[in-house]
Amino acid sequence: MSALTELSQQIALCHKCDIARLRTKVVPGEGAENAEIMFIGEAPGWHEDQQGRPFVGQAGQFLDQLLASINLKREQVYIANVIKCRPPDNRDPLPTEIQNCAPWLESQIGLIKPKMIVTLGRYSMAKYFPGKTISKIHGTAVKHEGMVYFAMYHPAAALHQGSLRKEIEADMQKIPRLIAEMNTVEEVKPEPQQLNMFEVK
Ligand code: URA
Repeated sequence: MSALTELSQQIALCHKCDIARLRTKVVPGEGAENAEIMFIGEAPGWHEDQQGRPFVGQAGQFLDQLLASINLKREQVYIANVIKCRPPDNRDPLPTEIQNCAPWLESQIGLIKPKMIVTLGRYSMAKYFPGKTISKIHGTAVKHEGMVYFAMYHPAAALHQGSLRKEIEADMQKIPRLIAEMNTVEEVKPEPQQLNMFEVK
């Protein structure tokens, strides 16, 4: 069994948060174990909770289309979320839930070792682009210790706000070039208080 599969099994046993009691299935994440690109969303919704798989609802269908637009299938990337259990009524994740789940996400990143992390929406953006606003930084990348972080709107945002669709599609188109030209992305040296935000164990 691969270390990543073993990790998913450990995640399935996690009951650190109250919402673990409410889940149908845990949603650790899925995709290629050696993916170059890792997409990090927010939290499982109803469909994801039913199936135990990330991004399988409407937002997931749009994510699949976005991936196809750069000739990628979901099996070629890794898709995960900031938290692995569905918050009731799709409420926003709580800071304690994000904190409790962070070591799982960091372990996934540590095993996959992607070249690029694409943050989908505000919650994963906040982890890697602390203090930034998504409307300002979507479509931009920073590099830290050799890994590129690229911020995008959450695909669900396009479903709620049609005007964002073109922006999300345009941001996605930047990914292949960024991967090809990683050396040109600015390396950030975070302030000491930000170091945790960039720490990848
Ligand atoms: N939205 C997310 O952020 N993640 C999912 O897995 C599904 C919808």
